[in-house]
Amino acid sequence: MTHVVLENCIKCKYMDCVEVCPVDCFYEGKNMLVIHPDECIDCGVCVPECPAEAIVPDSDPGAESQWLNLNRRFASSWPNITQKKRPPDDADTWNGVPQKLANHFSDQPGRDIGETGLDRESEEKAK
Ligand code: SF4
Ligand code: F3S
Repeated sequence: MTHVVLENCIKCKYMDCVEVCPVDCFYEGKNMLVIHPDECIDCGVCVPECPAEAIVPDSDPGAESQWLNLNRRFASSWPNITQKKRPPDDADTWNGVPQKLANHFSDQPGRDIGETGLDRESEEKAK
């Protein structure tokens, strides 16, 4: 048993979830996070923290096997994340948008965050 991150995390990526996980089992993609199914202890404390309501137990009817598979697949290649970073500026505008997996999912790993908390690209522009 595990919890899984669902489609509505894509491009919302609020990251409140990582602050409360007792076993640090979130992994960061470019525009969403996933949970490692073998590390999650199914405690459920991350569920109410997510403003996008994007985390459910894998027993939930919304957690089809494709989501469990996606979480498992990318948890093994994306970097671990344990501290909240700055969410995307337009996160709220993506909350609830349909078809995000088909149209907006990125399989790329998470941002390379520097001292300022901005991603490297934004830091370069700010110089
Ligand atoms: Fe972490 Fe608990 Fe959420 Fe699993 S259910 S990801 S262990 S906070
Ligand atoms: Fe995603 Fe919700 Fe965490 S939007 S990054 S699962 S707080």
